Amino acid sequence: MTAEQLVELAKQARERAYVPYSGFAVGAALLCKDGTLYQGCNIENAAYGPTMCAERTAFFKAVYDGQRDFEAIAVAGGRAGEEVSGLFPPCGVCRQVMREFCGLDFKIYMAKENGEYVEQTLGELLPYSFSGADMK
Ligand code: THU
Repeated sequence: MTAEQLVELAKQARERAYVPYSGFAVGAALLCKDGTLYQGCNIENAAYGPTMCAERTAFFKAVYDGQRDFEAIAVAGGRAGEEVSGLFPPCGVCRQVMREFCGLDFKIYMAKENGEYVEQTLGELLPYSFSGADMK
């Protein structure tokens, strides 16, 4: 699976977003090391706080299925019903969830318009991160 294909699958996942409050649709496509793919979308709530981000939807689906080894994630966001515009960076909570299950070399592709994307590692997006290893 190429980065371009993963970005396209993240954009496709935006169609499932449940976003009656923000109108901002986010999609994620998570690639496991065994090649399995999990897509996720954001799922909002009238109480706001229970809202789930697209990235964590994808991760929690995968972890429930027994997946523990992850290669990369693509994320895409923009107004619902419109093409993505600008760069979409994952929120801090999602970065921390990635850190729970991924090494610092985990790849994150952030979609931009026209099929473009920016690639960063988790280590670059979450420097000096806290993980289980810090509690030993
Ligand atoms: N959102 C995500 O799905 N992922 C992020 O990393 C940041 C924000 C969602 C939550 C909410 O439904 C909408 O985007 C606006 O914040």
